[in-house]
Amino acid sequence: MTLLAIESSCDETSAAVLRDGKILSNIIASQDEHIRYGGVVPELASRAHIAKITDVVALALSRAETGMDEIETVAATCGPGLIGSLLVGLTFAKGIALSRKLPFYGINHLEGHLFSACLENPDLKPPFLSLIVSGGHTLLVQVEAIGRYRILGQTRDDAAGEAFDKVAKILGLPYPGGPEIETLAEKGDAAAVTFPVASLKTDAPDFSFSGLKTAVLYHYRQLAAPVPEAQKANIAAAFQDAVVRALAGNLETAMQQTKAKRITLAGGVAQNETLRSRLQRLAESAGCAFFSPRAEYCTDNAAMIAYAAFLRSGTFPPSPLTTGATPNLPLL
Ligand code: KG4
Ligand code: ZN
Repeated sequence: MTLLAIESSCDETSAAVLRDGKILSNIIASQDEHIRYGGVVPELASRAHIAKITDVVALALSRAETGMDEIETVAATCGPGLIGSLLVGLTFAKGIALSRKLPFYGINHLEGHLFSACLENPDLKPPFLSLIVSGGHTLLVQVEAIGRYRILGQTRDDAAGEAFDKVAKILGLPYPGGPEIETLAEKGDAAAVTFPVASLKTDAPDFSFSGLKTAVLYHYRQLAAPVPEAQKANIAAAFQDAVVRALAGNLETAMQQTKAKRITLAGGVAQNETLRSRLQRLAESAGCAFFSPRAEYCTDNAAMIAYAAFLRSGTFPPSPLTTGATPNLPLL
């Protein structure tokens, strides 16, 4: 089965072609329109998706050496995400499905991240425990099967990536802040400052990152300006360490609760090497196998949407063409 998938939930315009469970192409066009504003501007994002989508889909087809005539199924992210952004990819995909009389699958973006580790490990099958860390979400999910999930923990306020982006802004670093903080943290000493990790009075491994962000802000404000680079590097390292501790602590709790044997780590923040190596050590020391996709599949991409649609097509009927874009679409 040859499938074309489109992802446009935030600021990446992406299209992928998958044949019989194998990715043939995965084109990701990032938008640099937002850099000067220090964050994604929704209206600019939807306009940029409109400008790019035709070329991105054409390039995905040509890289896959596939013609539109060979496409048998179409899929697109239908939520969660920015309404204007979602509508571009979803409407484009539904238009192809309608005009060519092809089955269509509307895919939850989070479901895409949940199975993204399977793209390079097709033998990885549920059940597994998945930690999704991105700009919009921080979720611990027990994956039983495609479409069968148990949410164990989630953030009460900011997402992990959002915290990276906000702290980067405090330190005067450009958007997106995650990679900038990681690079700066390499030159810093995490022990030079200690930032607190929120401890929530609940049994669920939930997260909270807004207090950490505020702690960084208050610490930074009381330093004499201009703050030397070395001091900024220490703050970046200590902040990153606090995020990693929070994620590792809750993952450990979830591992004990579920007696998981396989762990996956996905989403944009999963590109962080300090986080990856800490969680890999944690999983392996508990006798669990650890999987985290390469960078191209961590960040928002259509390959993961294609894979989730491929899995769905084995169990579920196609989605109706009346499927709309839902900005706060829940996983369950
Ligand atoms: O999954 P993603 O590409 O988009 C969303 O669905 O949100 O995640 C983007 C987030 C941003 O907040 C970005 O700062 C963060 O991932 N990020 C990182 C790193 N690379 C990207 N955070 C920490 N370390 C990184 N190396
Ligand atoms: Zn995402």
